[in-house]
Amino acid sequence: MMLTNNPFAELTLVLPAAVMQFFVVSMILLVIISTGLDMLHKKNVIYFFRNAKKAKKSAKKELSNGKKAAVILKTVAHDIATTSELGMGKRRIAHVLGMYGTLMFWIASVVLIFKYTDGSSAPDYLTTVWHSGAILTCIGGYWFWFFLRVDVSAEAHPWYRIITADLFVLALLACATFGLIWSFTQYSGMTSLSYLFLILYIVSNLVLFGGVYWSKFAHMFYKPGAAIQKNLAEADGSRDNLPPPADAPEQFGLGIKREQPKHY
Ligand code: HEM
Repeated sequence: MMLTNNPFAELTLVLPAAVMQFFVVSMILLVIISTGLDMLHKKNVIYFFRNAKKAKKSAKKELSNGKKAAVILKTVAHDIATTSELGMGKRRIAHVLGMYGTLMFWIASVVLIFKYTDGSSAPDYLTTVWHSGAILTCIGGYWFWFFLRVDVSAEAHPWYRIITADLFVLALLACATFGLIWSFTQYSGMTSLSYLFLILYIVSNLVLFGGVYWSKFAHMFYKPGAAIQKNLAEADGSRDNLPPPADAPEQFGLGIKREQPKHY
């Protein structure tokens, strides 16, 4: 079955495992270096800590370490693990599919490349995680790309209009799509086609990881940090120096029901 094919094992016939491992390490280094450069350039981390320090001054109570740990754990389990800031609906489901799909795809790739390129055969569940991860990434990603992107769903731009902000999602989709076709063509014995898709798979990984400085890639590190800070500021009463919610009921009249608010 194609799902249990380990495409990296067959690749060792033409590419030594050490080369693949070097590639993986280089991609990780690219993420670290580019995110570091991005932080220096945007100064977002300096702002983040300065703002957190300022907010702390208006804290209503001092949080114990236990309370802080509880807030952080809850943020990880709820806000981060379920992308709660996207509210209820398609946008959140698509993101969760893509996020877990990508994590499965990446983790399985690393284990397959570091552990099962020495001639030993990979367990079926692992290759299945690799393929399913890529498939979930495609479902969430293409759903987002064709239907949910703000430019398309609210601004009425055609789906094929591409801007720099699309670099991340498109490179991610290219990796998952070409990875799957590479495995399929290799498994089906379409040798020359499989090399074509292998090259496309490698190039899309270079674009995804080489493009971190220009793409939205680093949001997967920034968003969790911001969510933790927001919930800590809520718990200690400083609320990032924002006023408390009004005590009055939320009455906006019937007009608000006439049309979905989507002209943002
Ligand atoms: C492996 C981890 C993750 C992956 C692969 C991922 C993937 C993506 C992709 C492809 C997009 C669409 C980007 C675009 O606007 O073109 C996106 C948007 C977004 N992500 Fe993530 N993400 C990850 C982690 C996270 C985390 C941890 C959070 C928050 C805690 C988060 C929050 C968001 C939000 C709020 C958006 C905007 C969604 C929208 O416009 O509908 N992401 N993410």
